[in-house]
Amino acid sequence: MADSQIDSVLKESRSFPPPQAFIDNANYKPADIEQLYTSAAEDHTGFWAAQARRHLYWHQSFSSVLNDSNAPFFRWFEDGELNASFNCLDRHLPERADQTAIIFEGDDGEVENVTFQQLYERTCRFANALRSNGIEKGDRVVIYLPNIPQAVVAMLGCARIGAIHSVVFGGFSAVALRNRIQDAEAKAVITADGNYRGGKLVQLKQTTDKALEEGCDCVETVFVYRRAGNDIKMTPDRDIDWAQAVADQPAECPPVNVESEHPLFILYTSGSTGRPKGIYHSTGGYLLGAICTCRWTFDLGDQDIFWCTADVGWVTGHTYIAYGPTACGVTQVMFEGVPTYPEPDRLWAMVKRHGVSVFYTAPTAIRALMRQGDQYPQRHDLTSLRLLGTVGEPINPEAWMWYYQVIGGERCPIVDTWWQTETGGHMITALPSYTETHPGSVSKPLPGIAADILDESGQRVEDAHAGGYLVIRKPWPFMLRGIWGDPERYQETYFGMFDALTYVAGDSAQRDHEGNYRILGRTDDVLNVSGHRLGTMEVESALVAHQAVSEAAVVGRPHDIKGEAIVAFVILKAGAQADGLADELRSWVAEQLGSIAKPEEIRFTDGLPKTRSGKIMRRLVRSVARNEEITQDTSTLENPQIIEQMQAEEVR
Ligand code: PRX
Repeated sequence: MADSQIDSVLKESRSFPPPQAFIDNANYKPADIEQLYTSAAEDHTGFWAAQARRHLYWHQSFSSVLNDSNAPFFRWFEDGELNASFNCLDRHLPERADQTAIIFEGDDGEVENVTFQQLYERTCRFANALRSNGIEKGDRVVIYLPNIPQAVVAMLGCARIGAIHSVVFGGFSAVALRNRIQDAEAKAVITADGNYRGGKLVQLKQTTDKALEEGCDCVETVFVYRRAGNDIKMTPDRDIDWAQAVADQPAECPPVNVESEHPLFILYTSGSTGRPKGIYHSTGGYLLGAICTCRWTFDLGDQDIFWCTADVGWVTGHTYIAYGPTACGVTQVMFEGVPTYPEPDRLWAMVKRHGVSVFYTAPTAIRALMRQGDQYPQRHDLTSLRLLGTVGEPINPEAWMWYYQVIGGERCPIVDTWWQTETGGHMITALPSYTETHPGSVSKPLPGIAADILDESGQRVEDAHAGGYLVIRKPWPFMLRGIWGDPERYQETYFGMFDALTYVAGDSAQRDHEGNYRILGRTDDVLNVSGHRLGTMEVESALVAHQAVSEAAVVGRPHDIKGEAIVAFVILKAGAQADGLADELRSWVAEQLGSIAKPEEIRFTDGLPKTRSGKIMRRLVRSVARNEEITQDTSTLENPQIIEQMQAEEVR
């Protein structure tokens, strides 16, 4: 976040108490929330045990609530057994058999309603197909699908037989997909021929084929869902048509009940090294978080039509599409396309068309749509909305106010939810019938979430104007359980700074005298571009893998819509020509990582500011990228003259 943005956020003094009309119709009334806070404060583990008994169907109930004897490797409800797909589907039947589970709208506007009974049957058939193809409990399955109901079927189908899914966002490149398949040692990949987004064809099968060209012997089967009807190559003895695979399968599939700690999924996310980390979550604890937060934060109930605009390829799509709403038996909208196609009123048209009551999206989308003008939302009656949410990055007060006034008609509370891939579900957020909200603030920690802010020495930061490390001081059921295949990295990254009980989020934050938090940004070398995490080192590794590049430094600078934009400083190898290379490097990065990682600006330079020990001084690089005056001490630099040269370089 830029300093000017921080300033404007800090000067923000507007506050919005929950509207009485919202409270009157809320499922969780202020007294219910008060009760949750009180009981969580009295007995942390007792509170979570009670929630787990209340919200989950256990095949075998648990007696051990939290085992922290081997911190930070925590185990929740460890002698309990359950099945996640049973909790999302079977337990709603037959009562909700004909209720719509998913209102799906395709990129081209086609609408399909999938009932809970249909979702159940499709999941069972697909789970049987997985099993017929040798997939068993504990096997990893990579899912590379568009944002369509079949992605939910694939995820729940894996969960039904205890297979561990790892969804890879459809915008990731062949190389990124390959790295994830290899790291997870996936036995199968589930993909589609292709799909349309914003009217453009995305070639998923072609990318999958390319990913599998090298070093993916672990993959025995590729399931291919026909979505776009584009021409694809099917590899005999490996590729199976989804429709054929499920054709003769029974519509029942007994769920495999797993230990609560059995991994439900792996999801790769960026860290501060070049290698993405496979965050994995447990079955019982994770699902409990998905349900509790859907109920508390989104106040979801039978009257709601919920819409989370995320893609299932991100954690938001896991918790607030595939698992949370289904486990709560709530009808939701799922959308394959983009907000601006065919016109910038698409989201608002859909809110009206499907009667959406609770709407959850990212600040980057809000800013982009705000810029298009009020005429687009004003074309549509948005009075079905009762609650709005945001996630993924700090929201600037201007965008918050626009969301509140123009979209919510000053009627809908806004819940700004802070959480991470690692936390599994919301951690710090307003609760809509209860919390007075302030634009730009994520409000307070949820009941049972022991958030705090510490300084470098581990002391609590009391000063409302000082920032510090955002930490969680007690384990919670839906926290990550590890980094796939790398327990040491898990321990070091998240628990290495203070002690084995204190989870370090990697964000800096501030807390006012009322206990409201503001997120200031990352403390590590992770960028947040359009609400998506990207490691600077990942982009650097991709750049130096190009034959013309000798060295690269990647930093972020504030961007009006994306939040942060990527700026790359590149040193070329001797003899390489800069002319025409910037675009080539952009395409190269897109090929290595995916389009979201394309640098906005590339600047060629002869050197980078380095300390005498050879470390790149990122803060200086950042200042140059932001065209700031250099006020830092540069006397420890090996090559202080390089700064001026970098400042003078043409931006490409
Ligand atoms: O920096 C915080 C930012 O997004 C990071 C987590 O990214 P990811 O794991 O991709 O998950 C995104 C969706 C949960 C955090 O470390 N972040 C997330 N939500 C907010 C936020 N920053 C400010 N305000 C938020 N509401």
